[in-house]
Amino acid sequence: MKILTVIGARPQFIKASVVSKAIQNSSILDEKIIHTGQHFDANMSNIFFDQLGIPKPHYQLDINSGSHGSMTGRMLEQIEEICLAEQPDRLMVYGDTNSTLAGALAAAKLHIPVAHIEAGLRSFNMQMPEEINRILTDQVSDILFCPTDTAVSNLKNEGFDKKPVQVLNVGDVMQDSSLFFSERAVKGSSLVDVPNEGFIVATLHRAENTDDANRLKSIIEALNYIHEHIRPVVLPLHPRTQKVVKSLGLELKMSVLEPVGYLEMIWLLKHCDAVVSDSGGVQKEAFFFKKPCVTMRDQTEWVELIEHGVNVLAGADTQKIIQCTEAMLGKTIEDPLSLYGGGHASQNIVNVLEKA
Ligand code: UD1
Ligand code: UDP
Repeated sequence: MKILTVIGARPQFIKASVVSKAIQNSSILDEKIIHTGQHFDANMSNIFFDQLGIPKPHYQLDINSGSHGSMTGRMLEQIEEICLAEQPDRLMVYGDTNSTLAGALAAAKLHIPVAHIEAGLRSFNMQMPEEINRILTDQVSDILFCPTDTAVSNLKNEGFDKKPVQVLNVGDVMQDSSLFFSERAVKGSSLVDVPNEGFIVATLHRAENTDDANRLKSIIEALNYIHEHIRPVVLPLHPRTQKVVKSLGLELKMSVLEPVGYLEMIWLLKHCDAVVSDSGGVQKEAFFFKKPCVTMRDQTEWVELIEHGVNVLAGADTQKIIQCTEAMLGKTIEDPLSLYGGGHASQNIVNVLEKA
């Protein structure tokens, strides 16, 4: 059974690393990977293929840095051509990026069934490009691999239980990757100046924060304060944010790093005292590595973390980010309910695909 997988952004490489491994162990499934090129810097793309042993993409599209419409449209056109040439039995996409939507649309219009990994997540904020991408992708998918019970019930609320599609809670593939690569975490040369303990890891890249100068300034003020008064802050900085910070001439007082590889990122997560982030994936990884998290957003798709008190939403409010960070430090994090399935998502996905 031929599966065509579309990936293009950093978190998709990390998710694909474990799923593609499980596919390679299947005698039934055969995978070809399309890399859209959405993320392209060596430390946003190649480093993950090298570190995590992701199979080399069969197709490399090099489409990036445009507007949403231009990027998605160009990807759609090229993925359609590949689908026509490859005639796959199924196309598979991850998450909620422009690469996700382009892949799903291209296949659906050619009547190629679409499997969506991380289906059913909702922030209920249509201002987020990701919310539009995930809603549309779910609409054209026929296997919806949900990571949580909440995701399943979101789809039920949208009437998916009455459609001829499979909606399945298979667990979260990011827990698989955290578990699989945990023992391989390395400090590495990019982290040479990072202390061995007693620091906070921050990440910041979400469009709603970087494209709004007031929100960005307010967040940076908080991170600068935390760095000077609470704990040293280590910030591997996404290229999107690097560009905006430079153009606005903002001063970053914390330890700013280039984006790091996944094995270094896991090292940071294992050794830090807390996480302050606006990332989707990093919120969960904080939990997997038993670290409290402050999320610099107004909503999250990972609501179970908030309900269990291991993550707190602080928006972009300087005082709230500082106060939440102080309050969360030292909190004990446990996972007695195995909220994300316990690390079996990739195999669960392969088992379903083999029978599809
Ligand atoms: C994208 C996803 C977002 C995801 C994030 C993961 C969409 C709409 N957004 O956001 O959901 O959380 O990836 O990191 O798909 N850039 C570089 N080098 C790179 C990658 C990007 O310079 O390797 C620059 C681009 O030129 C662009 C900016 O960063 O100017 C934003 O990149 P883009 O892929 O459009 O969106 P992300 O913010 O990365
Ligand atoms: N990550 C990484 N290096 C970094 C920052 C993040 O490897 O410098 C990893 C992180 O551990 C997680 C994934 O990238 O697995 C999250 O990606 P990102 O925050 O870019 O996207 P999101 O999850 O918000 O879509």
